[in-house]
Amino acid sequence: MVRKHRVGILTGGGDCPGINAAIRAVAKALIQNGDEVIGIRDGWQGFFDGANLVLDGENTSRIIDRGGTILGTSRTSPLAVEGGTERVFAEFERLGLTALVVIGGEGTLSVASKMFDRGLPVIGIPKTIDNDVKETDYAIGFQTAVQIATDALDRLRSTAESHHRVMLLEVMGRATGWIATYAGMANGAEAILIPEVPLDEEKMDELCRMLVERKQRGKNFSLIVVAEGVEIEGRPVLKQGFSLNQDGKAWRLEGFGGIGQVVGEIIGQRTGLEVRVSSLDYIQRGGTPVAYDRSLATAFGVKAAELVAAENYGKMTALKGNRIIAVPLSRVADGIKTVPLAVYRTAEMFFG
Ligand code: F6P
Repeated sequence: MVRKHRVGILTGGGDCPGINAAIRAVAKALIQNGDEVIGIRDGWQGFFDGANLVLDGENTSRIIDRGGTILGTSRTSPLAVEGGTERVFAEFERLGLTALVVIGGEGTLSVASKMFDRGLPVIGIPKTIDNDVKETDYAIGFQTAVQIATDALDRLRSTAESHHRVMLLEVMGRATGWIATYAGMANGAEAILIPEVPLDEEKMDELCRMLVERKQRGKNFSLIVVAEGVEIEGRPVLKQGFSLNQDGKAWRLEGFGGIGQVVGEIIGQRTGLEVRVSSLDYIQRGGTPVAYDRSLATAFGVKAAELVAAENYGKMTALKGNRIIAVPLSRVADGIKTVPLAVYRTAEMFFG
């Protein structure tokens, strides 16, 4: 006989479109198996606060198209809090849970992996607009962010053309340029700047030269996409009030923003062209998910419920080609998936 479970679900890290579709899918699939489902509020923080709710057919209905996460989220890590691990285990037991489904990005899933090593029966589901979770082709939220960024670039193109301007659009991506590369490719941008391809002096010169030559050819407007994590003189640009952490690994911090403005000013000064800069900021992370993210979230949710039924813990649901598979969380922890150079080269063929 298959054991009935009482399963916790939490969502951690930055929110993104499609999380609710995943919550709905996991919860409904588990309920169909005869399991009970408890939503933990605000990520791992909910274990400390005793904040949770029973998820049922009613409160998980009509949320497939809703942005954000109905459970709330936080960047709290039990590993960074004194006695945090023990408190999670105590609350897990108090709630009578037998498994936990963690919907998160690289940070949250790394914590999940370490909690599994300490004995917590965990299943992970990858979500992040940054698409930088290892071992899966796509994470929930990425396709929506790319669509929003592409729409923004399409709009910027028409106004750039009217005013004969260079338009820069800054998009998210702390250590990787997934959104920038795919949105830039879909729009046919004249240049895409990503953290994986360092913006050194030579690259900057090349970019300025390209913009001037383009103008000389009679193309008097250009679009450039820049990922927030692009470094200038070896350092990332952060919003006011934020600073690099002690090991200089800024991508573990929030607060990226402003590289578009910095690059825009350099281009303006060096080329004499008229430059305008926009940033998509949190707009690219909000609102309704595109169809792809809804179906990916649904497939991941069903797979996660299957893994719970099989008590096959310590795994993350993943997309490989067109297959939904399970990969060990340990392979996902403490690392990120960068944009392959071959993908960037495809987009690059159409620069200038
Ligand atoms: O979730 C990833 C991400 O979207 C990054 O691209 C961005 O730098 C960061 O979140 C912003 O996080 P916060 O919501 O904490 O400001």
